[in-house]
Amino acid sequence: MMKNLPASINDAISAPGIYIGIMSGTSLDGIDVVAVSFEPKLQLHAHCSFELPALIKAQILTLCSSGEDEIEKLGHLDVGLGKLFAQCCLKLIKQSDLHLAVDNIVAIGLHGQTIRHRPDNSPKHNFSLQIGDANTVAEESGILTVADFRRRDIAAGGQGAPLVPAFHASIFHSNSCDRVILNIGGMANVTLLPADTQQPLLGFDTGPGNVLMDAWVQQHLGLAYDVNGDWASKGQINPVLLQKLLELPFFSQPIPKSTGREQFNLAWIELALQSLSDNTRPVDVQRTLLELSAVTICQEIQKHKFANAGLYVCGGGAHNQLLMTRLQQLLPSGKSVSSTADLNLDPDWVEATAFAWLARQTLLGLSSNCATVTGARGERVLGAIFQA
Ligand SMILES: Nc1ncnc2c1ncn2[C@@H]1O[C@H](COP(=O)(O)OP(=O)(O)OP(=O)(O)O)[C@@H](O)[C@H]1O
Ligand SMILES: [Mg+2]
Repeated sequence: MMKNLPASINDAISAPGIYIGIMSGTSLDGIDVVAVSFEPKLQLHAHCSFELPALIKAQILTLCSSGEDEIEKLGHLDVGLGKLFAQCCLKLIKQSDLHLAVDNIVAIGLHGQTIRHRPDNSPKHNFSLQIGDANTVAEESGILTVADFRRRDIAAGGQGAPLVPAFHASIFHSNSCDRVILNIGGMANVTLLPADTQQPLLGFDTGPGNVLMDAWVQQHLGLAYDVNGDWASKGQINPVLLQKLLELPFFSQPIPKSTGREQFNLAWIELALQSLSDNTRPVDVQRTLLELSAVTICQEIQKHKFANAGLYVCGGGAHNQLLMTRLQQLLPSGKSVSSTADLNLDPDWVEATAFAWLARQTLLGLSSNCATVTGARGERVLGAIFQA
C-alpha cells in the first residue's frame, strides 16, 4: 500500500478490480470507453464507442488552432467535455451485461481531448493540453478519476508522448521475437518491442495516420473517412506531391518525436498542392496521402531495424484495407501484417485500455513513461488523482 494516499484509495487498489479507460483521440471520431481488469491477466469486460456530438466536435476543432476568445471557449468546453465523459462512463456501466456497478470500479483513466500538442516548439515552454475536466468527471460519475498524464513527463523534459509503449510492453512483449505495435489513429505511432529486454524500448510518432486522409475525403466527398481506403484505391499516387510532402523535416527528425494536428493538417496539403498543376485530381491526392502514411511508417520501422519483427496494428487505421496492403508490400516480402487481435486485444480498444492501465499505474505509485521513448530525464509516476 502507498503511504501517501488516503485509506479509501488504498482500499480500492488493494483489491484487483475493474478500471475504466476513456479515450477520445485526434481523429474526433468518437469517445472510446472500456471496462477492463488486469489481474490475473488482461480482461476486457465491456466496451463502447460513443458518438461525439457535432457541436462539441466543432468546438474542439475551433480550439485546435488559435482564435478569438480562447480562454472563455476553453473553460466552457473543458466542463462540457467533463460532463460528457462522465455520462459515457456511466452509460457503459449501465449497458454492460456484467452488472458492473459504480462501486466495483476502482478508477477511471481519462486521457482527455488534446487541443494542442507542442512538444518541441520552444524547448523552454513545451506543452501539451488535454481538456475534459477531471473534477467534473469524478463528481458526476462518483468514480475516482486519474487524468493529466502527459504534463509530468513534459515537466521532466520529455515529449509527453507517446505514453502507450509501457503498456504495450506489459501486455504485448514476447521473449522469443521482436514485435512492432503500430497504432494508426489520427497520427501514427509505433512501439518497438525487442525480445531482449536489455535492449531499449523505443516508441514515437511516425507522422500522419488517418488525419490527412480524413480531412481530404471530408472536404471532397463529405465523408468522415474513406471506408477501407475504397476512394484512395481508385486514384494514382502523385510522385511529385509525395516527394514534396516527404521533405517535411519531421520525417527525418531523430527520436524522441511526437506530433499532432499542428503539423499535419489540410493547410499543409493545400500549400504543397500550390506548386503542382491545377488538374491534380482529388482522388489522386487521397491515394498519395495514404501512401504518405504507409511510407513514413515503414521508413521508420526499417530505420530502427525492426523490419523483420512481427507487426501488429491497432487503431482505426487497421480497418483500412488498402493501407494494410501497402504496409505489407513496403515491408520485406513474406512478413504478414496482423492486428493486435492476434495478441488477444481487439485493435479498436487498445488505446482506451492503455489509459485504464495508466490509471492503475498511478494508483500503485508506479511509473508509466519510458525515458527512452519520451526523452524525459527519468521515469515518473504520471497523472493526477481526483477522488470520488
Ligand atoms: N473501416 C474503416 N476504413 C478506413 N478507415 C477507418 C475505418 N474505420 C476507422 N477508420 C479510421 O480510423 C479513424 C479513427 O481511428 P482511432 O479512433 O484509432 O483514432 P484516434 O481517435 O485519432 O485515436 P488516437 O489519437 O488515440 O490514436 C477514423 O477517423 C478513420 O480514419
Ligand atoms: Mg478515436
